[in-house]
Amino acid sequence: MNEPRISRALFDQVIVPSYAPPDVIPVRGEGSRLWDQQGREYIDLAGGIATNSLGHRHPALLRALQAQADKVWHLSNAFTNEPALELAQRLTELTFADQVFFCNSGAEANEAAFKLARKYAWDHGGDARGKHEIISFTGSFHGRTLFTVSVGGQLKYRQGFEPVPPGITHLPYNDIDALRAAVSARTCAVVMEPVLGEGGVIPADPAFIRAARELCDQQDALLIFDEVQTGAGRTGSLYAYMDLDITPDILTSAKGLGGGFPIGAMLTTRRIAASFGVGSHGTTYGGNPLACAVARAVIDTLDDAELLAGVRRKSALIEQELHSLNSRHKVFRDIRGRGLLLGAELAEPWRGDAKRLLDTAREQGLMILMAGPDVMRLAPSLIIPDADIHEAMTRLDRALGDFTAASA
Ligand SMILES: Cc1ncc(COP(=O)(O)O)c(C=O)c1O
Repeated sequence: MNEPRISRALFDQVIVPSYAPPDVIPVRGEGSRLWDQQGREYIDLAGGIATNSLGHRHPALLRALQAQADKVWHLSNAFTNEPALELAQRLTELTFADQVFFCNSGAEANEAAFKLARKYAWDHGGDARGKHEIISFTGSFHGRTLFTVSVGGQLKYRQGFEPVPPGITHLPYNDIDALRAAVSARTCAVVMEPVLGEGGVIPADPAFIRAARELCDQQDALLIFDEVQTGAGRTGSLYAYMDLDITPDILTSAKGLGGGFPIGAMLTTRRIAASFGVGSHGTTYGGNPLACAVARAVIDTLDDAELLAGVRRKSALIEQELHSLNSRHKVFRDIRGRGLLLGAELAEPWRGDAKRLLDTAREQGLMILMAGPDVMRLAPSLIIPDADIHEAMTRLDRALGDFTAASA
């Protein structure tokens, strides 16, 4: 077979070297399967990094995109549009929020949330009291704009980009005492992921989340939930906060909300949203009709108790299979997560080797993710067929065999 004209080598010539993709270039997807340029087939447990919430080529999403593509593609915020209004209405019906700000990515949704928290404090006399401090957590990830890498709790993403905006404090995740000691009258917001995603798939303790809510209430600070990765059904509820007995003040959503089409959203109450008056924040593509039409189809599909119960059942099935594989290969020291955001932490001799496990799995026809150098992360389609899960675990079994043999 002739080598395709568009190959991985071209990447190094024409793309800024901020990524290092493998040689494989997927060209087609269907459900939880992908095919590359050479026609090799893969099971996709990576899901575009927790983004293809309904797999590839879901008929409802295809229909929504094609129908909207025939009407109007873009208007900008000089006008509103029907898909944006309908999506915002659905999101506000289904969550605590009264109002929505649309943008194009998770980073932008968080950028909006952090700016809104500062502006809300300022509007309520906070500037006089120095109420601008944002508290976040070590290991957290909130995006790649300068503000979001600054709030994010991973030094490697902000090193070299300093000076970063001031007034940001990072605390250990799940440490209630540290949180109690740090939240003060100067705090304008506490921002957390309900499950640390990039930071190693670590769920927050319910007591930690409750403490954050109480401390924010005491100090009139806003609790921001970054649900960019956990939202849109990923944990088995439409949003993870719904299982946690608390309500955030601001919630950010992206990734799975678009099912593979770029969109971000910041959800909040009318009282807080009022601090973003006309002209205070914006983005040209925010609320794009194509993106909103697709996201509306995603939300309508996810608003289904049976589908969400399926997420929890499939999660238990994968966890059970991972434990069974681990009883033979003994590579993982911990298997954890919520819903279909699962992590398996590598045991001692294999720490730091998650990238090699990804490469080995791909050679066996399986796409998986990492969450830092020590953790294998799985974020498949929320409707992945059980048969694909079983086949994926068979391939992972072979991959783990190769992985441990190569390091023996
Ligand atoms: C929790 C969380 N927040 C924010 C982001 C940034 O989203 P985006 O890459 O769409 O800007 C991510 C992306 O991985 C994420 O996992």
